[in-house]
Amino acid sequence: MKAYVKQNAGPGASLLDIPVPVPGEGEVLIKVKAAAICGTDIHIHDWNAWAQGAVKNLPLVMGHEFSGEVVELGPRVKKLKKGDYVSGETHIPCGNCYQCLNGLQHICANLLLPGVHRNGCFAEYIAYPEMCSVKIPESIAPEYGAVMEPLGVGVNAILEGNVGGANIAVVGCGPIGIGMISVADALGAAKIFALDISEYRLNLAGTCGAKHLINPTKSDPVQAIREVTGSVGVDAFFDASGNPEAIVQAFKFLRKGGHAHLVGLPSKPVSLDLVADVIFKEATVHGYHGRKMFQTWTAMMNLMDSGKVNLKPIVSHTMPLSSADEAFSLIRGGNVSKVVLLP
Ligand SMILES: NC(=O)c1ccc[n+]([C@@H]2O[C@H](COP(=O)([O-])OP(=O)(O)OC[C@H]3O[C@@H](n4cnc5c(N)ncnc54)[C@H](O)[C@@H]3O)[C@@H](O)[C@H]2O)c1
Ligand SMILES: [Zn+2]
Ligand SMILES: [Zn+2]
Repeated sequence: MKAYVKQNAGPGASLLDIPVPVPGEGEVLIKVKAAAICGTDIHIHDWNAWAQGAVKNLPLVMGHEFSGEVVELGPRVKKLKKGDYVSGETHIPCGNCYQCLNGLQHICANLLLPGVHRNGCFAEYIAYPEMCSVKIPESIAPEYGAVMEPLGVGVNAILEGNVGGANIAVVGCGPIGIGMISVADALGAAKIFALDISEYRLNLAGTCGAKHLINPTKSDPVQAIREVTGSVGVDAFFDASGNPEAIVQAFKFLRKGGHAHLVGLPSKPVSLDLVADVIFKEATVHGYHGRKMFQTWTAMMNLMDSGKVNLKPIVSHTMPLSSADEAFSLIRGGNVSKVVLLP
C-alpha cells in the first residue's frame, strides 16, 4: 500500500510502498477514506524539539485523524463488522491505570497515539483497536468523518462550558476554534466573539456563527469586548490559539466569576496575574485533553447527523495522498483551515 512515512530523524517524510498491516488481537483493518493533517503532524514533519522527544519508533506512518471502512477483523473483535464506517478516536487507553478504571480513559496514564507512538493513517490502510474505531453515521462525508477527532476536542470544551445563553469568546480560529464556534452557535450561545490574527480565519469564523470578529493586531480585544458587554466581559472564553499572550489577555476580558476553558497548547509557560485574574475574579479554569470516551462522540454524531452544525468552514482543501508533500507546504503557507488527504 501507499503510505506517507517518517523514515529518519530529521525534517520531511516520504511516500513509500509498504505492506498492508495485519490487524492484531482486538484490532480491525480499516481502509482509510480520508485523513486530516494536524499541527502535531507538522511538528513531526518539521522534526522540532517536541517531535524529537515524542517519536521514538522510526520508521513511522504519519497521521492520526481519519475516517474509513472496516475491511477485515482481527482475532477477538466483538462488535464491529466488515463494511462498518468508522472514525478514529486517537487516544488509545491502556484499560488498567487509575484513570481508565475511574471513567477517565481519555486521559489514561499510558496513552498511545497513532502517527506518534504507532503507525498512523496517512496510508491506504491502518490496523486499529476496535474500541477506538467509532462507528459513525453514513450521513457524515469522509472528509468530515476525518475531522471528528479535532472537532471533538472543541465539542468537549463547549459541552462542558454550558454555553446556551452565554456570551463567549473563542480565541484562535483554526480548525478547532472554528468547530467550537459552529457548535456553540448550534447550542445557543448568545454573543460569540471570535479572535484571530489571520483575516482569512476570522472570515471563516464569521461564516459559522461568530458575529463579533476581533483581530488583536488591529484593535484591543479587552476594550472591544467590554464595549459590547456593558463593561462586564464574557461569561466564558475558550482558548484554541495556544498563544501565551492571547491567553493572558483572555483572562482580562473574562467577567468576574467566569470560566476559562483551555484547549490550545502553549509551547512555553504562561504567566498569569493570579490575584487579579483568577483569585479575586473567582475564575474557574478548565483544561481539556481530547474527547470524553465516548460521550463527546455521541453528542458530536447527534449534532452532525441532525445537520445542526456548519462544518463547511473546517475543511478548506482535499488532496490525494500522493500530494502529501504539497499539502504540508500548503499548510505552512497559511490561508487554509483543515487540509484532508484522500488515499
Ligand atoms: N487540548 C487538546 O487535546 C488539543 C488537541 C489538539 C490540538 N490542540 C491545540 O489546540 C490549538 C488549536 O488547534 P488548531 O488545529 O485549530 O491550531 P491552529 O494552529 O490551526 O490554530 C490556532 C489559531 O490561533 C491563532 N492565533 C495565534 N496567535 C493568536 C493570538 N494572539 N490571538 C488570537 N489568535 C491567535 C492562529 O492564527 C491560528 O488561526 C493548538 O494549540 C493545538 O496544539 C489541543
Ligand atoms: Zn490532531
Ligand atoms: Zn490507562
